Amino acid sequence: MLEQLKDIHRQAVEELDGVADAKALELWRVRYLGKKSSLTGALRSLAALPLEERRDVGARANEIKRDLESRLEEKERFLQQSLLTSPLASQGIDVTLPGRPIPTGRLHPITQTLNEICCVFRNMGFQTIEGPDVEWDYYNFEALNIPQHHPARDRFATLWIDAGAGAKARLLRTHTSPMQIRWMERERPPIRVIAPGRVYRYEATDATHESMFCNVEGLAVDRSITLADLKGTLFEFCRCLFGEERQVRFRCDYFPFVEPGVEVAISCAACDGAGCRVCGYSGWVETAGAGMVHPDVLRRVDIDPQTYSGFAFGVGVERISMLRHGIDDIRLFYSNDLRFLRQF
Ligand code: PHE
Repeated sequence: MLEQLKDIHRQAVEELDGVADAKALELWRVRYLGKKSSLTGALRSLAALPLEERRDVGARANEIKRDLESRLEEKERFLQQSLLTSPLASQGIDVTLPGRPIPTGRLHPITQTLNEICCVFRNMGFQTIEGPDVEWDYYNFEALNIPQHHPARDRFATLWIDAGAGAKARLLRTHTSPMQIRWMERERPPIRVIAPGRVYRYEATDATHESMFCNVEGLAVDRSITLADLKGTLFEFCRCLFGEERQVRFRCDYFPFVEPGVEVAISCAACDGAGCRVCGYSGWVETAGAGMVHPDVLRRVDIDPQTYSGFAFGVGVERISMLRHGIDDIRLFYSNDLRFLRQF
């Protein structure tokens, strides 16, 4: 039996010498270390031997097995190494040369700003929701206290999909405020949500206007929410994004779906209030419209304005991004000039 093992060992070692690739190595492994190999067979038939012999043969067989296993490992390493070095020798390929760099992508500056804005509100407890770009007249206007022929419609130069079909007409949403209605239709207070998304206006473009841009809508509805909560929230937002030095200005404004309504402006970060192209030489940049949710809007979605009140705001994302990076033309964002985009 011991003789037999010795033969197997010698044969295996000899054969391993001739193995030149991974496939042959696998065949070798199956033949000498596999389940059906003679070595495994020998180990299995130990039980039939007398005790004395069993001990010797068993120890020897295990020794051989370990030896073959370590030889196998060594051969594997050797083959791998030669896989790297042989083309080097035979074809003159230098595998140590640095590779050609693969250009990495990055997020669009507006996506980056959008993420930052959402993060600030998320930290204040707002949940992020999303809704459709193609909207019904009902959600974009009617339910927000802007019926047909209301003069406030002039403020939103609308891109229509169906013309003249009343509340059932489709359009490209002109703001994210329809998400207020969509959310309040299905959820009850307390509500704290933000709704980021694209909005569209049928407008000539210039340095501060685009026909497509991004808004982040905010809505909070609960018992005893006041204008002070709105101010506190937006102050905190401005501080988080622009630091303590920026001033925030609230002025009266009119939106049919809020009462009272305010316009929020930040002292221009590009010129520190001195006046420049970013702020239209006024020292201030309007960044949001806001106000207390109009009681009629709450009533329309079956929320009792005697019990609940709320605030809403709509932040202009491009304006914020322009302020943060000192960009003086909104059109740069969507003209896809890589020389511009690569800077972010
Ligand atoms: N939706 C308004 C706009 O785009 C902004 C706004 C939002 C105003 C919420 C009040 C409350 O002009």
